[in-house]
Amino acid sequence: MSRPRSVIDILDLSTDELDALMRVAEDIIAYPDKYAEVCHGKKLATLFFEPSTRTRMSFEAAMYELGGHVISMTDGASSSASKGESVSDTAKIVSCYADIIAMRHPKEGAALVAAQSATVPVVNAGDGGHCHPTQTLADLLTIYREKGGFSNLTVGLCGDLKFGRTVHSLVGALSRYEGIKFILISPEELRLPDYVKNDVLDRGGIQYAETSSLDDAIGSLDVLYMTRVQRERFFNEEDYLRLKDSYILTPDKLRGAKSDMAILHPLPRVNEISVAVDDDPRACYFRQAANGKYMRMALIMMLLGLGA
Ligand code: NCD
Repeated sequence: MSRPRSVIDILDLSTDELDALMRVAEDIIAYPDKYAEVCHGKKLATLFFEPSTRTRMSFEAAMYELGGHVISMTDGASSSASKGESVSDTAKIVSCYADIIAMRHPKEGAALVAAQSATVPVVNAGDGGHCHPTQTLADLLTIYREKGGFSNLTVGLCGDLKFGRTVHSLVGALSRYEGIKFILISPEELRLPDYVKNDVLDRGGIQYAETSSLDDAIGSLDVLYMTRVQRERFFNEEDYLRLKDSYILTPDKLRGAKSDMAILHPLPRVNEISVAVDDDPRACYFRQAANGKYMRMALIMMLLGLGA
């Protein structure tokens, strides 16, 4: 049986499609009224088996702003998953109730399993420590709007590069642009996984360097992408406590940075960026969260065949 198109990995979208999504998102920002009824009569189901504020609410706001409806499962414990229902069965059932599904799950690969059983498009809203393609859509629109494009940027990724799924997806997306260079800034234990280094960076011939020093790297960066240490994916609390404050971006540290460096963070932040940085014009993370809604609107339209 042929399945509808789903987005499980950012590489499921071509660079032309990413361009098209960004164009639509910018049009939505400029002319929101044009889009207010596009999804009339359509339903989005959000299935979240892990906590979320931005991703779930921006998906839901996106569907409402397109004139559609939302049905929501916000807590795995209150669903039949707690009785032992498989992801695959849940996806089949929810396909009867909704036209598109956004799903977050603690297990790597869960969204792919759902997409293989669903009869409506599935969007991966984060699968364990693996990937998070719609956060990357928010990141890309933010970088595009702040820097005017992606080619020849030096991008610093800082913090938990091992478990940070947003980092894995962003590396995949940016690696397709000309002249991109990464500086991977993390403690030894939280380095980017080998599968991302081998399959994406080495295979694509992408330039990158690894360091544990944010101070050494900051002066060369066009974009600094800060991340939270992913406590829920650690095996023991002791390691988390030792590593959690490895990097804290402060106004003082920013003195060595370019005057037009864009600071991104997928949020939530814990301690990684001091609130004193929030008023710096280089701080883009709240704009980034807003951009996520517009890109999700564009993606919903595309997957439902509604003109994006
Ligand atoms: C990220 C996630 O869930 O992976 N959050 C988000 O979706 N904006 C990052 C994180 O939780 O640290």
